[in-house]
Amino acid sequence: MGLGGYVPERILTNADLEKMVDTTDEWIVSHTGMRERHICAEDQATSDLAYEAALAAVNDAGITPDDLDLVICATVTPDMLFPSVSSLVQGKLGATRAGAFDLLVGCTGFIYGMATAAQFVRTGAMQHVLVIAADALSRITNWDDRSTCVLFGDGAGAVVVSATEAEDNTLDAFELWSDGTNSNYLMVPGGGSRRPCDEQVLREKAHTLWMDGPEVYKLAVRGCPEVAEAVLAQAGLSYEDVDWAVMHQANKRILSAAGKRLHIPDERVYSNIERYGNTSAASIPLALANMYEEGKFTYGDRILMVAFGAGFSLAAGMMRWSKRA
Ligand code: ACO
Repeated sequence: MGLGGYVPERILTNADLEKMVDTTDEWIVSHTGMRERHICAEDQATSDLAYEAALAAVNDAGITPDDLDLVICATVTPDMLFPSVSSLVQGKLGATRAGAFDLLVGCTGFIYGMATAAQFVRTGAMQHVLVIAADALSRITNWDDRSTCVLFGDGAGAVVVSATEAEDNTLDAFELWSDGTNSNYLMVPGGGSRRPCDEQVLREKAHTLWMDGPEVYKLAVRGCPEVAEAVLAQAGLSYEDVDWAVMHQANKRILSAAGKRLHIPDERVYSNIERYGNTSAASIPLALANMYEEGKFTYGDRILMVAFGAGFSLAAGMMRWSKRA
């Protein structure tokens, strides 16, 4: 019923990164498709980005914060370990009737959040659920590691999922997958209960994101088409029914390889990676918000969402655009 996105003002370009680490604009563009990304201001944290996107989504839905029954936020970069980002946003919005909790599924979190919200509204337990996906990966980036620091940006997206009459149900199918045996390719190893923050953790920068990029790449290129095919089968649809594929914006080459394997032409695979980089959980709702602003959707459009991330997690969702022009 409502959709909103937000990115912080400050822009970090490939030219800026050339001055920080041994990299080139040519390498970044050819290996990832990214040209710039938005980065939090000194005084901004994830809940600030989340709040802006949430407010936009609530306004777009034509409801007030008081109408919300639940606030879910998918993030791996909470302002602090606890309280949750969703609690902070719930308080700031004045969503006085709403419960709140965070979901930690990395870049796959938005689809997990949508699927969770769908269960609450389908059972009749709730009327309006706010799903936010927000991350400030710049806060956990190792700015000395050229293999990761060029990839990430900050941002937030949010949707309001509301109960409707059965025939207007537009959330058709979800697949939520996890392969914990491949959890070691993408992590923040320090600062948790296994390696609490101490001087050694800080010296090793173990409190920042660590990734085996090529392994993640292989898992993503193989897994995205598999999970997408599963969700299409569950919805009784084929790739020809897909009007838009909106995938996690991690790498232009992954988007195009997955699109090819699914036989979805490039012009139906949306990308804003040039401008935003990989914004983690926020990337799919931010892309949806951009497409909405650009007037790309018409009522009834079938949208395939696909994401992969820490876990190693994979998820896909099939929904129909339910807003009339
Ligand atoms: N600038 C210049 N050279 C670089 C850079 C850089 N920024 N980064 C790495 N290189 C070099 C490497 O050192 C290596 O040099 P070598 O051959 O002399 O050793 C060379 O480039 C190739 O490195 P690879 O890591 O093999 O490069 P690859 O083509 O695999 O691209 C990339 C790396 C872009 C990270 C790719 O593996 C990828 O996209 N992986 C998936 C990452 C991903 O999707 N992550 C997000 C998942 S979840 C989440 O969003 C948190």
